[in-house]
Amino acid sequence: MTAVGAEVPMAAPPLLELRALESGYDAQLRVLKGVSLTVTSGRCVAVLGSNGAGKSTMLKTLMGLIDDEPRKGSVRVNGVDLTGAEPERISKAGIAFVVEDRGMFPELSVAESLRLGAFNRSDRAAVKTDLEAMFTLFPRLAERQRQDSGTLSGGEQQMLAIARALMARPKLLMLDEPSLGLAPLLVEEIFGVVQRLSREGMGILLVEQNANQALAIADYGYVLEAGRFVLEGTAQELRQNPNVQEFFLGVRVDEAQERLHVRRRRRRWN
Ligand SMILES: Nc1ncnc2c1ncn2[C@@H]1O[C@H](COP(=O)(O)OP(=O)(O)OP(=O)(O)O)[C@@H](O)[C@H]1O
Ligand SMILES: [Mg+2]
Repeated sequence: MTAVGAEVPMAAPPLLELRALESGYDAQLRVLKGVSLTVTSGRCVAVLGSNGAGKSTMLKTLMGLIDDEPRKGSVRVNGVDLTGAEPERISKAGIAFVVEDRGMFPELSVAESLRLGAFNRSDRAAVKTDLEAMFTLFPRLAERQRQDSGTLSGGEQQMLAIARALMARPKLLMLDEPSLGLAPLLVEEIFGVVQRLSREGMGILLVEQNANQALAIADYGYVLEAGRFVLEGTAQELRQNPNVQEFFLGVRVDEAQERLHVRRRRRRWN
């Protein structure tokens, strides 16, 4: 029993909480049509969806990167309402965003790019330690410290983009299709690092079309279609869902079954 007036321990608020988020690029057109999700620390949450579903729009909206958006709904970071806040405030609140095209500064070397990721920090000694930690995390980057980032391979650029984001010491890391255009072995290496970060306590929001890889490391997932979540569940539930299997995992069904699926999948997901 709790004595009157005694402090009741409160559960920590989620790192990120989206509620009924709506946004778009012009007033007439709604791309995101009411999206709600939660990411807590140490959890990896995947958002799956095909081209144009609104995955990048969701990330850009919550990060404050689209002017005058969101038009409805809310974004809370660590319990603080940051709906429509400037991107800088959101990153200072502990969110790092690895954009779809990796956002390289081609003229900067690998080491310079990493230092840029720490521009908000004043703890210089710790920045130096973190720089070394990035080279341990991604040994390929260590070998290329002085190379211009513009000359890195696609996989190396993805590693650099993630490492640069980590240099800000985020509580939550958001990744927009990190597997895009990469060979399976590299994807495995990068996703292995992401999984490790999540196990060490970081919150991860992973946007992907590559459901196989994403669901292999995620705890929970959502399927986004035309600006709405049409399905959500644990990664295991999603892997076993026939519609997810057919749409994202490339599992073939026989022709008769396929016709059935086609009709069903257009109407409902669960
Ligand atoms: N800057 C923009 N101006 C106008 N419309 C945009 C803009 N960016 C995206 N859109 C539109 O918003 C919709 C969702 O796009 P979005 O980039 O969020 O999809 P996505 O799920 O990230 O797709 P992909 O897997 O191809 O990256 C699309 O119809 C797209 O044409
Ligand atoms: Mg996208």
